[in-house]
Amino acid sequence: MMRRHHAVLVILGAAIVIAAINPFGLQQGLFVIIAALLVCCAGFLYGWVNGVLMAVLFGFTKYSFAAQPDVISLILNSAFLSFLGVFSSMARGAGKKERTKRERENDRLFVNKIINSMMAAHEMLYEVRSGINRETMLRIFGTNLSNLLDARDVFIYKKNGERFELDFCAGMKKIKPSVSLSAQAVKGALARSISASGFPEFSDEKNGFLLLLSAGEENGTGELAVICREKPFEYSDIYMAEFFTAQVFMIVENNRLFEEIKINYESLVQALSLAIDTKDHETHGHSLETMCYAVKIAEKLGLPREEQERIKYASLLHDIGKINISSKILNKPGPLTDREYDRIKKHPEEGVSILKKLNIFSSILPIISHHHEHMDGKGYPFKATGEEIPLGARICAIADAYSVMRSDRPYRKAMPKEAAVEELKRCAGSQFDSRLVDVFLEIIGDEEQEGFAAEKMDEGKIRMAN
Ligand SMILES: [Fe+2]
Repeated sequence: MMRRHHAVLVILGAAIVIAAINPFGLQQGLFVIIAALLVCCAGFLYGWVNGVLMAVLFGFTKYSFAAQPDVISLILNSAFLSFLGVFSSMARGAGKKERTKRERENDRLFVNKIINSMMAAHEMLYEVRSGINRETMLRIFGTNLSNLLDARDVFIYKKNGERFELDFCAGMKKIKPSVSLSAQAVKGALARSISASGFPEFSDEKNGFLLLLSAGEENGTGELAVICREKPFEYSDIYMAEFFTAQVFMIVENNRLFEEIKINYESLVQALSLAIDTKDHETHGHSLETMCYAVKIAEKLGLPREEQERIKYASLLHDIGKINISSKILNKPGPLTDREYDRIKKHPEEGVSILKKLNIFSSILPIISHHHEHMDGKGYPFKATGEEIPLGARICAIADAYSVMRSDRPYRKAMPKEAAVEELKRCAGSQFDSRLVDVFLEIIGDEEQEGFAAEKMDEGKIRMAN
């Protein structure tokens, strides 16, 4: 089957032959112009080889049908037309090369935009992991989107029934956004560059262009981003914005779920710690107080946020294993027998066996299991020494001991602050990590103990309630 370009070449060849024969008796100059145009077409469309072939065809045809054949004329005509054919081909090549170059530049810009949006999303994810609230997250989102798209304003809406309600504004705030958009109007304007003047809710913005992007509607928590800028949005802008927005809204949704899980986690921890203190009623509030002291030490040490969180929850639950111990032993007014003490010493491991049933507690188990270890290896249950004892457990041990010493027990009254401090100093290096004792003494030295504990306990209750 003859291909299309072959057919075109045959037609061009026939036209060249007709022009060379000049059956209509046209003026010499005119048929040369026609021939030149045909050769140029062949060269431009199908390359210099076909252009030259057409030129030679013209020359030989003209030579063959000439009343007085002239070789010089043949060569000159063929050469001139061949030059035109080659030139046309080069022009096409140059044009093609230019277009390819432009396409490559567009591709490069497009890839850069996608990479920038990925980096921006990655930075946002990092910020989320560092702990930021929704408003901060949306502000960063709006700023990134403005930078990526050279936008003037970015508005975030949250879906509420059949409407999108304005939730957040970022940018130059050059226009007054509509506080509410109908879902139907939004649906017809999504993911395309639209003139603001054609969108009634933004009709104040006569000269701008809008891009509307939505995400998360499938789970009923839909969010909408409205991006405004001076120039229309190109395909690459829309693709990049969709890519970035989808990632960010996914982060927003994950963060919301994470916050919910965290609240549930804190409620669970609080309930468990209350259960311990309720059973060991003489030390009511001990878990919370231990947590407050431990968190203060962790903060003073400048530990990473995640480590601080681990220490916080572990110190709240450090005695969870006591739930399995008889209240008679826990609340015994006199000294414990060896057997009773052996029973008590099992509570770190029993705490671990209770909590390990829930994966969410896995990271705090080492602190729970080691909170009665001593630096010199004379603690329990593993007789671990020095750095073998997790840092969180060494911190918890000091906070626990200080809280116990400062509380009334069934068999003795609370120790005065000075006596408790002296006891910590005496045991520094043997029972406790001396560096951490120094840090703790610095903390309690800065504040009046009673006021500090009360304040911290209140703060702790507020934190837990949150
Ligand atoms: Fe304990």
